[in-house]
Amino acid sequence: MNIHEALDWRYAVREFSPEKLDGQTVETLVDAARKSASSYGLQPYKILIVESKPVRKDLLPYSYGQQKVLDCSHLIVFAAQTDIGDHTVDRYVTQFEKIRSVPAAEISGYVTHMKEALASKSQAEKQAWAHQQAYIALGTLLTAAASMRIDSCPMTGFDHNAYDDVLGLAELGLESSAIVALGYRSARDRSSGLPKVRFDYDDLVITM
Ligand SMILES: Cc1cc2nc3c(=O)[nH]c(=O)nc-3n(C[C@H](O)[C@H](O)[C@H](O)COP(=O)(O)O)c2cc1C
Repeated sequence: MNIHEALDWRYAVREFSPEKLDGQTVETLVDAARKSASSYGLQPYKILIVESKPVRKDLLPYSYGQQKVLDCSHLIVFAAQTDIGDHTVDRYVTQFEKIRSVPAAEISGYVTHMKEALASKSQAEKQAWAHQQAYIALGTLLTAAASMRIDSCPMTGFDHNAYDDVLGLAELGLESSAIVALGYRSARDRSSGLPKVRFDYDDLVITM
């Protein structure tokens, strides 16, 4: 299956079947999201896998009537970090040294640059930046799922504050960004197989 076949096959599923994904498949998909690009590589977010039905029952009243939050196989929550600062960079540098075996002194100029770039942002800009990075990971998850013929639906139609409360995100220094329902489409889903509504290539793309 080439990339366009996969992307044409993917759609935002309205109704999921009761069939469950196995844990290994979910881990493979989330691990693909983990490999996403992010600004400076800082990955200022966490990815929560919500398999628990009782937790999803608690989320349902805050999901604007989207029953698929409960009916899908696994619910993935992308959550942005709320405290962005020098420690965000320091944590990355520790990992960088470990993986690349490069002493911190060799990248000290880059570290200063990253810290200054973050420090120049307002609190609101830092939050927006963190959420943008989480969205990139969300996009990777959707594409990875399509390539494996796993169905999905990205969602921001939920009460973010209530989700944060139910999931205890504030205590983890996080706030919800977006969620993705994963599973298999129901044979009853009338959205399945509909042609994609997208602007034409020449309308969307400007070549210079
Ligand atoms: C950030 C984002 C939020 C979305 N929120 C919802 C949602 O809350 N509920 C829903 O059913 N679909 C949601 N969607 C799916 C879009 O409606 C859907 O992707 C769009 O209509 C294009 O259709 P397609 O993905 O089926 O090709 C969302 C998509 C994105 C990217």
